[in-house]
Amino acid sequence: MKRVQIVEVGPRDGLQNEDHLVPIEDKLRFIQLLTDAGFKRIEATSFVHPKWVPQMADAKDLYPQIPKLDGVIYSALVPNVRGMETAIEVGVQEIAVFTSVSETFNQKNINMSIDESLQVIESVIELAKQENIPTRGYLSTCFGCPYEGHIDEVIVAELTAKLIDLGCFEVSVSDTIGVATPGDVDRVLKAVLSQSNVEQVALHFHDTRGTALANIMQALNYDIAVFDSSAGGAGGCPFAPGAAGNVASEDLIYLFDGMGIETGISLEKLKEASLFLESVLEKTLTSRVLHSPESPLKS
Ligand code: HMG
Ligand code: MG
Repeated sequence: MKRVQIVEVGPRDGLQNEDHLVPIEDKLRFIQLLTDAGFKRIEATSFVHPKWVPQMADAKDLYPQIPKLDGVIYSALVPNVRGMETAIEVGVQEIAVFTSVSETFNQKNINMSIDESLQVIESVIELAKQENIPTRGYLSTCFGCPYEGHIDEVIVAELTAKLIDLGCFEVSVSDTIGVATPGDVDRVLKAVLSQSNVEQVALHFHDTRGTALANIMQALNYDIAVFDSSAGGAGGCPFAPGAAGNVASEDLIYLFDGMGIETGISLEKLKEASLFLESVLEKTLTSRVLHSPESPLKS
């Protein structure tokens, strides 16, 4: 593997679980710093119900104000047609739809069964296509569910293929609660890649138990080349109890830099974005690399 794409989900996944409501101007500055660091794909916000996720209530005001750099995609999470209508109104560049392998998690997260959510996704993608807006998909709880426990990889494979069939250009197979180990990555990817092309599969690891980087190393053996991460390791899902943040972008980029795998991202500039986020949230983020001295091996 020579090059990978990183999808920076900090402004959405990183912030959605934070009680401290971040003002729009700080979100804009954070997104600007991430852009300066070189990310080409940034998930900027979500058009979800403000009562369910108060941190994202400003999405409609925020999105048009993002200083958009040519060549960078600023995407947004969309749960339903109502959210899609708002996304279109503000000229969103790319959307991400989402469902889960677990009926219970889906009910808690979006108040829909899996089948209902697939119907909603079909309608959302129809609107997106009319506007030439590309759609990414997320599939949650692929490695385990906080309510249902073990998840059958065959269902993960079927639902990944279904989302692609509905029109998602890529599906991010997600470990919502950070339970996977490399053996699980083997098991799930073997099933997923027996039904879907590797170019259409991304991975999204929360790092609750410290296994995310090991999982990503394992995924490289399968030629997966798109990984989600969040600056500083912020994040979590309000409807997944006990879940920690995403794998930290710094930790991932340090790893890839060391392996000679290109990401196009400046670690130093990324640290500025994460330190800014720490100052806004008034807390220390979990990234190991963010708080380590510069490596003496760096020339
Ligand atoms: P609901 O209450 O079932 O919605 O919520 P409803 O369709 O019954 O409508 C009820 C009211 O909400 C109506 O208003 C709608 O207009 C309004 P009323 O007529 O009563 O005045 N409404 C909305 N308002 C604003 N924006 C909308 C919207 N939709 C309806 N989009 C809903 C269903 C899906 C909206 C809700 O459950 C929701 O917003 N859920 C989002 C949950 C969420 O954001 N979770 C975190 C993101 S997913 C994640 O983190 C996982 C991921 O990172 C991958 C991984 O790690 O696994 C992606
Ligand atoms: Mg997530």
